[in-house]
Amino acid sequence: RPIRLTDYRAPAYRVSATDLTFRLDPTETRVTTRLSFERLGESPAPLVLLGERVKLISIKLDGADLSPDTYEITPETLTLRDVPAQFVLETEVEINPQDNKTLEGLYMSSGRYCTQCEAEGFRKITYFPDRPDVLSKYTVRVEAPKIGFPHLLSNGNLIEYGDLDDTHHYAVWQDPFNKPSYLFALVAGELDVLEDTFTTSSGRTVDLKIYVDTGMSARAAYAMDALKRSMAWDESAYGREYDLDLFMIVAVRDFNFGAMENKGLNIFNASLLLADPTTATDADYERIESVIAHEYFHNWSGNRVTCRDWFQLCLKEGLTVFRDQGFSSDQRGHAVQRIKDVKALRARQFPEDAGPLAHPVRPSSYLKIDNFYTATIYEKGAEIVGMLKTVMGPKVYRTALDHYFATHDGTAATLEDFLKSFEAVTGNDVSNWLNWYTQAGTPRLKITQTYDAAAKSLTLSLSQSTAPTPSQPTKAAVPIPVRLGILSEDGTPQSFGFEGQSQIEITYVLDQPFAAITLTDVAAAPVLSALRHFSAPVILEVEEPQSHLFARFKGDTDPFNRWEAAQKLAQNLILTGGDVAPYAEALKATLLDDALEPAFKALIMALPTEQGLAQEMSPVDPAAIHTRRKAVKAELSRALYPTLRDLYDAIQPPTTFSPDAQSAGGRALRNALLDLIMAGYGTADAAHQSELSALASAHYARADNMTDMIAALTALMSVHGEPYEAALDAFYARFKDEPLVIDKWFALQAACPHPETLARIERLSRHPDFDPKVPNRWRALVQNLASNNPAVFHGVFASDSYGYGFVVDQILTVDEFNPMTAARLVESLSGYKRYASPYREAMKAALESIMATPKLSKNVAELTAKALDQK
Ligand code: ARG
Ligand code: ZN
Repeated sequence: RPIRLTDYRAPAYRVSATDLTFRLDPTETRVTTRLSFERLGESPAPLVLLGERVKLISIKLDGADLSPDTYEITPETLTLRDVPAQFVLETEVEINPQDNKTLEGLYMSSGRYCTQCEAEGFRKITYFPDRPDVLSKYTVRVEAPKIGFPHLLSNGNLIEYGDLDDTHHYAVWQDPFNKPSYLFALVAGELDVLEDTFTTSSGRTVDLKIYVDTGMSARAAYAMDALKRSMAWDESAYGREYDLDLFMIVAVRDFNFGAMENKGLNIFNASLLLADPTTATDADYERIESVIAHEYFHNWSGNRVTCRDWFQLCLKEGLTVFRDQGFSSDQRGHAVQRIKDVKALRARQFPEDAGPLAHPVRPSSYLKIDNFYTATIYEKGAEIVGMLKTVMGPKVYRTALDHYFATHDGTAATLEDFLKSFEAVTGNDVSNWLNWYTQAGTPRLKITQTYDAAAKSLTLSLSQSTAPTPSQPTKAAVPIPVRLGILSEDGTPQSFGFEGQSQIEITYVLDQPFAAITLTDVAAAPVLSALRHFSAPVILEVEEPQSHLFARFKGDTDPFNRWEAAQKLAQNLILTGGDVAPYAEALKATLLDDALEPAFKALIMALPTEQGLAQEMSPVDPAAIHTRRKAVKAELSRALYPTLRDLYDAIQPPTTFSPDAQSAGGRALRNALLDLIMAGYGTADAAHQSELSALASAHYARADNMTDMIAALTALMSVHGEPYEAALDAFYARFKDEPLVIDKWFALQAACPHPETLARIERLSRHPDFDPKVPNRWRALVQNLASNNPAVFHGVFASDSYGYGFVVDQILTVDEFNPMTAARLVESLSGYKRYASPYREAMKAALESIMATPKLSKNVAELTAKALDQK
């Protein structure tokens, strides 16, 4: 039975205090829970606690043992029908952390205890009203053997610790802030710690501690630096100060996703925390910086103000993603950051909106909320906050956020509460913004233009429409901010008149299905530059000649639209053909322009991905996309070789490594040049081939950091054969004791677009280092095939051997012990209806084979049924 937003009822009881005692044991951990309940409503109501896979040992109400006929236990609940208006309930339960391979609740990773409670994992620890609108103050006592478990951590402040006897010790933690159970955390084990301090704007000193595997603390230095920058940024950009005297982060190897914002005790997937130049790429550093910021920012957007129910998930996730994007953008450059964020949005969220799993940013029902930690809720949610800021302006935005935090501090809020803060500070009705939250699907924005040369006016007709999505046949208009300016045909920016004023750029908000606006004083036939900075998450359709795209590619003052025009031109070349020469010329001019940043040049050089092109083709023919993209890239490579080679040779990699944005940009450009150079390999003559092969091998041999090594290995994929195998073997031999690097070794091979890859992946799934119980390793192999290697996934090299079967087998294997992680891969098959035959039928059959499997988890069943339109 699905859970529905409309069924929301306020809790019948509040919990004023939560006292937990953990006697840790790998297979028989005892948890004693003392809860002080107070009834909220007038009339008596049953008390329903949630608990899964917990064994009840004893239960007492106000100190007296309860007999079994006074309560009722099901596999998911413990119900007391007859309770006073105020009482203390004490339970003792037994759980088995060692056997818990769901990685949810209390589990063991590398001999350590750790927890993951969001969204509904606390109920695997003890019986509790496990819902985000029940907030209480926690006191947590942890007892464990001294040997093997020197560190005993939980949320808040350490108020007491000591020995129990010769072999066991304990620690007591108290969190002074009210919190919901999903923010509870506990970690116990052997750990090294990197320590630092941060002084807040009001002068308080906060101890910062990052706990990692023994011997690894030097690799936490970058995360620590990112943390201090995040803390300072949240003070200056949002006026948010940290509130405890201690902030801890723990890195664990076995984790279902990126990281978790538990109050005062964040837990991270080690892959998003540990970094040094020999093991982490620039992309890893960038992700670490943004995830550290994200989890830290949750302290206000998520923890101090939390969510009333899980339908409001985007209240904390969308807002926090928008906040971390703002941070990254200040750290790394606004244009480059925006392009990367939009690329990610289009790669992950747009397909969601276009397929059977489409759901609103605030869904209206679910079976498993874990299935809704999606790009829609995170990234589209962030876009909505960004649009509000664009429309209101930075000052009003900041005042509204201050109002939101002040009004809802310590409570569980809703999206309506969030929007009301904008109403409170502007006095304007913003209720039409709710449509963005409740409606699935990516709106299409169509602009037609009429230039009147005599009147020197440009009339723009704007219209919006959103296609039906599952259970939403009709759609209302949403407010779409359209940032726009105009250029002349040679790419020079032009001013124009709008509503009686001279402008160089305006933001027009289209909040109706249709509107027309007129720009005046438009000197000559203009080139429109619309939706600058990607001012709304929509699909823009403008009818215009190719020459306009070239004008923007060459001269748009908005870097986002400059990049966008280049992408559109490349897309046209690949999907509809044409002469590569003018595009190559424009790209050459861009690469030779000293005013442009290297990181921007690297982005503009990258052709649209095969997955991105698939969104533009109907029906999707993955073989055609692969072949045509490869051909265009090869042609471009040939046409530009002397330029690319000169630029490549001119870049001297620095002798010492620094992960900062500028250094990373330099590496990105050099590696993008190598990538385009190598694209000419397949069509080159023997002499040129050996030159290219030598170039890639030299790049590998000289690489003194992981970024350049991965770029070289990727370059060697074009050569394949001996040089590629030799480099892979050397890489494995060098890093065999570094799990995070071996993940990359698996990932790289899984993402190689080559006829023999599927056989290799199958072989790798039997490699002694492959373990489906470790999500990082599993995703490295399986997710990379399903999401980053369309040619092999869709079997374009040998149409009878799709990758679908392998992915299905892997989903079913992992579903037996870790449903949350298994379910994430169902999405890769869900777009089947958009594909041409025979892919479509084969993908559908793959989904049906999942559906036909007995004992599927709720997680996998929900998504598979939806993908097949069965729900
Ligand atoms: N709140 C965490 C974050 O975004 C993610 C938790 C994911 N939980 C889940 N069940 N998928 O930082
Ligand atoms: Zn988050």
